[in-house]
Amino acid sequence: GQTTFKLNTGAEIPVVGLGTWQSPADEVTKAVESAIKSGYRHIDAAWIYGQEAAVGKGIKASGVPRSELFITTKIWCTYHRQPEACLDESLKNLGLDYVDLLLIHWPVPLEKRGDEKIPLNEDGSRAIDRDWSPEQTWELMEKIPATGKAKAIGVSNWSVPYLEKLLSKAKIVPATNQVELHPFLPQHELVKFCQSKGIVMQAYSPLGSSGGPVLQDSLVQSIAKAHNADPAQVVISWAAQRGVVALPKSVTPSRIETNRKLIELSDDEMLQLNELHKQDGKAVRLVKPNWGVDLGW
Ligand code: A2P
Repeated sequence: GQTTFKLNTGAEIPVVGLGTWQSPADEVTKAVESAIKSGYRHIDAAWIYGQEAAVGKGIKASGVPRSELFITTKIWCTYHRQPEACLDESLKNLGLDYVDLLLIHWPVPLEKRGDEKIPLNEDGSRAIDRDWSPEQTWELMEKIPATGKAKAIGVSNWSVPYLEKLLSKAKIVPATNQVELHPFLPQHELVKFCQSKGIVMQAYSPLGSSGGPVLQDSLVQSIAKAHNADPAQVVISWAAQRGVVALPKSVTPSRIETNRKLIELSDDEMLQLNELHKQDGKAVRLVKPNWGVDLGW
């Protein structure tokens, strides 16, 4: 199978990257180092994860030249009015001069109040910055590639209505859209839309997030058995064969090594996995942020 997809910038993005959300700071350095040493060339980070410095240490420890790696980070919601300032902090944390991909983490501008990550109103709701739009953030993002500090720019957690609004104003089409995506939430409509616009889809929580619940599914397990493979390889290969970049998270070296080994699924297996979400009680969104705004999901 293909090991990279092409972005609309012309750059290649490795089809499998290491996810680092929910990887503790004291474990993620080893995870990143062992991932790169076992062949990964793509690491997915974010400012809000709070452990970019530890991710950066793992990158350095791998000994692999920077030019061979693809590193992503994401600007947090309190930085919509100043995405470059968030990127500067991330670069400092990571110990890098540039990232290969910079995403807007959520299409939700939050007020900036000192170091508060999720400022709240008195009633406990999130302090949305109502005088600022994600489209305005994108206008600022569009200035960043010229600085050399991010080679490509994209979005995360964007729905079709949000993308339509963005595309109606954008000078640069987002390189990627990173969303929760796995066989219980295949995102068929969003994948089709993004692919028609040349936007590469990226899957976070491709195994179903903490504990990898999708790996317990009987269809996934039976396909794994037929290939003498691990269930994680089935769902990661399913994403890859749909043209979707997969970002499995693990801090376990043996799993990290297994997860990047793609297998070749048959058309029939692809179809069954595509339809799995239709089974009773299967369709589920595991990441349910309570932003208090309609995300168009
Ligand atoms: P751990 O990090 O302890 O190895 P997702 O990528 O969907 O967010 O899933 C991450 C979860 O899946 C974590 O709990 C991770 O555990 C677990 N996981 C990652 N790879 C595998 C694998 N190959 N087999 C079983 N569980 C896995």
